[in-house]
Amino acid sequence: MSKTIWESFKEKGISRREFLKFATYVAGIMGLAPSMAGEIAKKMEKTKKPIVLWYHGLECTGCSESFIRSNAPYVTDLVIDVLSLEADDTLQASSGVMVEEGGKLVYPTLDINGKKVSVEFNRHVHKIIEEHKGEYILAVEGGIPLGNDGRYCIVEGKPYKEVLEEAAKNAKAIIAVGTCSSWGGIQAAKPNPTNSVSMDGFTFGKPLIKIPGCPPIPEVITGTILHLALFGMPPLDDQGRPKQFFGNRIHDTCYRRPFFNAGQFVEKPDDDAAKKGWCLYKIGCRGPTTYASCGNLRWFGGISYPIQSGAPCIGCADKNFWDNGPFFDRLKGVVLPNVEVNADKVGVIAAGVTAAALATHAVAAGIRHFNNKEED
Ligand code: SF4
Ligand code: F3S
Repeated sequence: MSKTIWESFKEKGISRREFLKFATYVAGIMGLAPSMAGEIAKKMEKTKKPIVLWYHGLECTGCSESFIRSNAPYVTDLVIDVLSLEADDTLQASSGVMVEEGGKLVYPTLDINGKKVSVEFNRHVHKIIEEHKGEYILAVEGGIPLGNDGRYCIVEGKPYKEVLEEAAKNAKAIIAVGTCSSWGGIQAAKPNPTNSVSMDGFTFGKPLIKIPGCPPIPEVITGTILHLALFGMPPLDDQGRPKQFFGNRIHDTCYRRPFFNAGQFVEKPDDDAAKKGWCLYKIGCRGPTTYASCGNLRWFGGISYPIQSGAPCIGCADKNFWDNGPFFDRLKGVVLPNVEVNADKVGVIAAGVTAAALATHAVAAGIRHFNNKEED
């Protein structure tokens, strides 16, 4: 835990050259110029591996599933060499009392099958909280149920909200990973029977970064954690999201945008227009109101994203997701272009689409190049 990031790399026998290459990848994922790689390397030489505690509330674990698929940088590099990930119920091999070590917490007597049992947990995570007050990053996945005194999510034998409160009060900064911890998510959708809420009410004055998405793109998660670890808080928008990843609407970077501008729309998911790749607005696309990086970063190392696969964006990073449906109903209030389609225009559109496709290819190729280099 007391090692710097560079020391951790060195210990694994990674050369200085490879380390600098990694710094270039890190610059890319944080949206910085490659020329910043030297400065990032210097930071990593001096910065101790930041301690991260990753908590889980009401959720499907999809955000962790996304996180472990980061390949720019690979999450193994991140978790083993860059971060000191001290607790994560999903990723750690053991759980409960199996992760005990030091720190002593005595819990009230439990009634198990009519027998009174005094349960004492000595959990590693509590030792970390105690010894590193104000130093660790708390990453939170999932919503927090407040209904029925928080009994809809029990951790360590008590309501999750109490466990979370202890970790949040003593954190340096908090990252809400995913739509559930950012906005409340599916459990907070109407009628919200568990009275679930987002992290907004659990910050206790600590800085909060929101990374919404169901799930968020892996590189957005890793890029945000890296920015916080190396440079402190990233610039945030008025809703607490990192501007470098949430500064554009899906619609602004969509390669189908020329079809929208030309008034060429898919009317049904399987019509001829769908086969031609026209705009999905009329079958419910939420791209015009959703802020996320799916159109430029894409998923799986830049391979694709919902719109590229033929499905409209359902606004999974939006504040009112899941109550923004029905999903395939047309979004209201979007001003449609007033155009007449003719052969000339289609030619212009085709050129626009080609340019957009080339730009996309460049981004994806950049990521692939990065990955191949990594394997060299
Ligand atoms: Fe792309 Fe959807 Fe906008 Fe059409 S409405 S251009 S498919 S984001
Ligand atoms: Fe979600 Fe829309 Fe991206 S559905 S994954 S924000 S394209």
